[in-house]
Amino acid sequence: MLASKKILLIVGGGIAAYKVLELVRRLRERGASVTPVLTRAGEEFVTPLSLSALAGQKVYRDLFDLTDEAEMGHIQLSRSADLVVVAPATADLMAKMAGGLANDLASTLLLATDTPVLIVPAMNVRMWTHPATGRNRAQLAADGVRFVGPNEGDMACGEYGPGRMAEPAEILAAIDSQLGDKPLAGKRILVTSGPTHEPIDPVRYIANRSSGAQGTAVARALAALGADVVFVTGPADVPPPEGVEVIRVETARNMASVVQTALPVDAGVFAAAVADWRVTSASDRKLKKTRDGVPALEFAENPDILKTVSHLEEDRPPLVVGFAAETEDVVANATSKRTRKGCDWIVANDVSPATGIMGGQENAVILITDDGAEEWPRMPKELVAQKLARRIADALAD
Ligand code: CTP
Repeated sequence: MLASKKILLIVGGGIAAYKVLELVRRLRERGASVTPVLTRAGEEFVTPLSLSALAGQKVYRDLFDLTDEAEMGHIQLSRSADLVVVAPATADLMAKMAGGLANDLASTLLLATDTPVLIVPAMNVRMWTHPATGRNRAQLAADGVRFVGPNEGDMACGEYGPGRMAEPAEILAAIDSQLGDKPLAGKRILVTSGPTHEPIDPVRYIANRSSGAQGTAVARALAALGADVVFVTGPADVPPPEGVEVIRVETARNMASVVQTALPVDAGVFAAAVADWRVTSASDRKLKKTRDGVPALEFAENPDILKTVSHLEEDRPPLVVGFAAETEDVVANATSKRTRKGCDWIVANDVSPATGIMGGQENAVILITDDGAEEWPRMPKELVAQKLARRIADALAD
């Protein structure tokens, strides 16, 4: 929670500015107070009225506003917060920050502040990858500025690549990790994530549709609550979170042996979509259709990592959480899976194609524990992760 934390939110001019309205709402729900500062360019994308209504505070816009200066001078404004957040941080704002310019209210506040600064870049792909932005980014990082994103994806300008602003839930997690309580400080938690790839030959493999988004979000949320996270990931689509120990693996057998060496831990969250089978004897040369014809692949069962860890005599983590990907009879299948695997909790989800969950942004889960099945409403994967991380913190505190 962010009760009584004060955030100075500088809103720059970018199409992503609309997302900060959601961010303000969520910050206030968590008890934070938000003082908005809107740049001239920002005003082209969100109105002062909507920002002020959601923040429940006046919006600061001008450096030379006599009334504002009489009420609270800009130096005081820059230092009155626990954290300064810049979202969206445009290429222009980043350049001003890196160069130490102070020619409007936002840049002046950023130069005058003695408070930690978190920036959320958002810009066109070429602007982000331009060497000038690269230099500014390196300078800002060296100055101690923290970054959230940008993400890679389709952009409003029609291009694709890095530059898209991080989602409100990701920004919230970063703010939490900076300002929130740390109930998991001193706890070591293992998270597996992503798919595994099982080779057929040096160029081909068997995979599944897991993007790694849910496991990544869980790791990020646990780290935000202060946990030391060991993140064991197969080849996922999404980048691993910051601030965790990342161990990359390819096959189920790689994952099993890395998990073994990561023990003991206080809790293990097994979100990986581990391949159940591997090709018995993967070829060490490329299979040629001219020479080998249609291959008849034989399969062997992979080690069940969750089941093995749940049944360890020594080193069984005090809390073991599995995931269940089901396409039918979700509660019944997941409940029997919990017993079969021997884990404490199962986070079950319906991954039928119609739900759009596998590879998508949202999840609708049912948490199965000793107390039965608890259905959570459909929500972004980041929020599922935050809710689960809180539950894990509560369980480890008992
Ligand atoms: N799991 C694992 N090792 C495996 C297979 C699965 O650790 N070889 C873990 C997953 O990370 C997940 C849980 O087991 O936490 C359930 O995975 P799921 O694919 O839903 O179950 P399966 O074991 O494949 O069972 P079934 O084929 O009956 O669905």
